[in-house]
Amino acid sequence: MKSKDLEQTLSVELDGLSVEQRHTFMDRLDVLWPDVLRPLEGLYGQRGDFEAWLGRLVRVAGHAYAHRSPELRRLDAKRYARPDWFLTSEMLAYVCYTDRFAGDLKGVEQRIPYLRELGVRYLHLMPLLEPRKGESDGGYAVRDYRRVAPRLGTMDDLEHLAGELRCNGISLCIDLVCNHTAREHAWARRALAGDPTYQAYYYMFRDRTLPDRYEQSLLEIFPDFAPGNFTWQPEIERWVWTTFHEYQWDLDYTNPAVFGEMLGNICFLANRGIEVLRLDAVAFMWKRLGTQCQNQPEVHLLLQALRALSRLAAPALLHKAEAIVPPPELVPYLGRGAAAGRECELAYHNVLMVMLWSSLAERRVALLTHTLQQMPTIPHDAAWITYLRCHDDIGWAVTDEDAAAVGLDAALHRKFLSDFYLGDYSGSFSRGTVFQHNPRTGDRRINGALASLVGLETALESGDEGHVDMAIRRIQLLYGVIFAFPGIPQIYMGDELGLRNDFSYLEDSELADDGRWVHRPPMDWQAAERRDDPGTVTGKIFLSVKRLAEARARCDAFHSSASARAVWTQNDRVFGLLRESARGRILVLANFSEENQSVPAYRLRELGLGDRLHDHLQNRGLDLDAELLLGPYDQVWLS
Ligand code: GLC
Repeated sequence: MKSKDLEQTLSVELDGLSVEQRHTFMDRLDVLWPDVLRPLEGLYGQRGDFEAWLGRLVRVAGHAYAHRSPELRRLDAKRYARPDWFLTSEMLAYVCYTDRFAGDLKGVEQRIPYLRELGVRYLHLMPLLEPRKGESDGGYAVRDYRRVAPRLGTMDDLEHLAGELRCNGISLCIDLVCNHTAREHAWARRALAGDPTYQAYYYMFRDRTLPDRYEQSLLEIFPDFAPGNFTWQPEIERWVWTTFHEYQWDLDYTNPAVFGEMLGNICFLANRGIEVLRLDAVAFMWKRLGTQCQNQPEVHLLLQALRALSRLAAPALLHKAEAIVPPPELVPYLGRGAAAGRECELAYHNVLMVMLWSSLAERRVALLTHTLQQMPTIPHDAAWITYLRCHDDIGWAVTDEDAAAVGLDAALHRKFLSDFYLGDYSGSFSRGTVFQHNPRTGDRRINGALASLVGLETALESGDEGHVDMAIRRIQLLYGVIFAFPGIPQIYMGDELGLRNDFSYLEDSELADDGRWVHRPPMDWQAAERRDDPGTVTGKIFLSVKRLAEARARCDAFHSSASARAVWTQNDRVFGLLRESARGRILVLANFSEENQSVPAYRLRELGLGDRLHDHLQNRGLDLDAELLLGPYDQVWLS
């Protein structure tokens, strides 16, 4: 089928548009058609009704295009004119729970000045579409994709907020939980009532034969509170696939109807002014017997097809993949080979996050350097979300190969990291808590707020100012590296003020089972009042994060399209990162230890630096002697 054949079928959708607007859509369709067709043929091409179904999909996109507001059309044009808008060094992301940050969506509007003060250009509000009642995995069990959780506001409030943020130069990102719905979603309710059409939206089995076979190679995501991957539904006498909690039903994307529904949801949200969709748990969207049912090739085809179709309707929208997977599996989510620039524009760099924590515990950077060196480069028009903490736990994604290459035993190292961040290792400064201990694999994931993990909590309790200073330096060090790395650095709400572990969740029966709430504290607006006072711990942290953001924004050479190469510095306590492009070259050096360290001048010359240096972080000149000295946890951004 050719894109032109579709013009007739689109007459209803595009009716009422000007000739020019129709041409715009048809031209886009023409350009994007191969991107739509290729993945969908791979997924559903064998079906007899493929062409008719394809026509329906294009009509969904056409309908959304026709209903895009003038303001969003202008945004589409603006993004076309500056497609690298999210790659510039001014980008800074902030992520928070709406209620914990500001009560509700209207409250978030009141806090825009705070976000601007910090330099935020991208706001990710944690799941806010209507979840099931009671436990909802922090909102990741969605009951209705087209309604906002009533306690947070309405769809109109969301649309209004998106507009206000945009006027302030901030793009709004929300979650689209596309791998599963709540058991209470209308589709699941119809399935439970026995409707075969909706039963086909999910994976359902009459007996344990297939579930048992799948289980042989599946992992358990929440072995503690949701063991196994299937849940028995007595009403319909079926086993339903539930990768996460029992109340989160995995959608069956082998059914094209499911794909069509999700496309409709994407278009709907894009037209409410959402600029970035965080596609949740994408790695799990396709199952294959005998595998872990993660990162299957079809997942990438699904994401590519969704991307091409949403681009047709709403080109300003970005897709962000949430795939917390090992290094070799991660990069393809940003589009590989022919799919470069055609999958997701953004993905979380969980590997960098894990490696930073690993280096901090070890005071050595070999594993970090080696692992980054092994990772393939990403397309120049895609970017990482770099982060230190998020609402989830930290899982030690260290591969056997990477560990062995630097003389470590992966299993022992993972054990060391868990012990260290639990504070069980001698000399540890950390105060993490354990999450989902799996005795079978020995896995122990870690919860904890940034400040608690870097030792601020222990230091403040000890009353030792030197220790407090070290903890603050660790925060600066870690933020410094992610701010210098290609991508959009993301601050997790409260980390900019040094908020610590919060155990109040234990008093709430709907939250108490899930230890991840320990690092999801409510915003402390009282503490925030001290943010400008450099004499306070809060002020020191806030001001240094702000300074880092300003320094990064000044450095055009940190544009995400500039290459990033982890380099050996001749000192295994000092991490080196070289950023290079026509915009300039910057060498980042970061001391991961609490002792003074040095890097020999000859090494800096080898890396292309001259004798007269400029440190962009402190905005000062430096003369290169025989060696470059770095104080405890210090870093420099040199050109
Ligand atoms: C993602 C979310 C996590 C949630 C899971 C299931 O990994 O980040 O919080 O539990 O998906 O939706």
